[in-house]
Amino acid sequence: MPTNSSSPYLPFGENKNAAWYGKDIISVKQFSRADLEYVFGVAQQMRGMVERVGTFDLLKGKILANLFYEPSTRTSSSFTAAMERLGGSVIPINEVKYSSVTKGESLADTIRTLECYTDVIVLRHPETGSAAIAAKAAKKPIINAGDGVGEHPTQALLDTLTILEELGRLDDLNVTLLGDLKYGRTVHSLARLLSQFSNVKLNYVSPDILKMPQDVVEEVGAKGVSQTEYSALEEILPTTDVLYVTRVQKERFEDLSDYEAVKGAYVINPEIMKAAKEKMIVMHPLPRVNEISADFDDDPRAAYFRQMEYGLYARMALLAMVLGKA
Ligand code: NCD
Repeated sequence: MPTNSSSPYLPFGENKNAAWYGKDIISVKQFSRADLEYVFGVAQQMRGMVERVGTFDLLKGKILANLFYEPSTRTSSSFTAAMERLGGSVIPINEVKYSSVTKGESLADTIRTLECYTDVIVLRHPETGSAAIAAKAAKKPIINAGDGVGEHPTQALLDTLTILEELGRLDDLNVTLLGDLKYGRTVHSLARLLSQFSNVKLNYVSPDILKMPQDVVEEVGAKGVSQTEYSALEEILPTTDVLYVTRVQKERFEDLSDYEAVKGAYVINPEIMKAAKEKMIVMHPLPRVNEISADFDDDPRAAYFRQMEYGLYARMALLAMVLGKA
């Protein structure tokens, strides 16, 4: 006979005392180094489970709302895959133009609606600070999947997991962030997250009009991290351990002629990469436009496709944590 633990009337054994139970994930500032190590440990277990059994029932009966007000391929599909691999299900709202948003519904009301039907909400929205507004309106956990030019915390978690898995460490790293550092939310989160580690040097290579915002530079500087700006990649490429390439964020420009002027500023190709170390990695949150030429893809240092896979494990870990299962 089934024991109590398999009774459908028990709340599936959530641990309400777990540190991350019921929490929102809005900013990487919420994560201490110990928290990061915990996330990486859970993500590694998730990877083991996916490799062994594919799909399992950790979040059986749980429902995720995937609410995207901006385009997404990887973030939305990896959250869907993460939830489904954990045995849960997903309400996808990708096309807000078909939802009550077009009738003028506020973000807070949309969130309050979705939390009546679901256990956790993943939100991507064009306005900086929108995830925090949603979290204030909701009792259920909100996970920020990108708030305008603000942050993209789950991307930074999967990025640091990628670095750890590929290079075996997160300390003693020379990391070069390249491209649109002004509007690229992924680099805002990544720079902040890397500032937790020791002896990390951050190099910023960008066109003049796309420099890393001052508030990020100040926060990272307060942690004692060395930050240097360059306009030419060649100056820093030979000593770089991680080259993190970003897309110029066309949709964030007020004046498209500014975009046209800088869009092709940096292109990574096999010729340029001859100057880089043999043991280093090239990352990109994707989508890429022209920043990395496709003929570099077969180079073992090209980590951007593997990076997407780590995203699945990181997001499985985060969902399990906020739903009291890790
Ligand atoms: C990024 C984003 O949305 O900020 N994409 C992603 O989530 N992988 C990067 C981008 O759009 O350039």
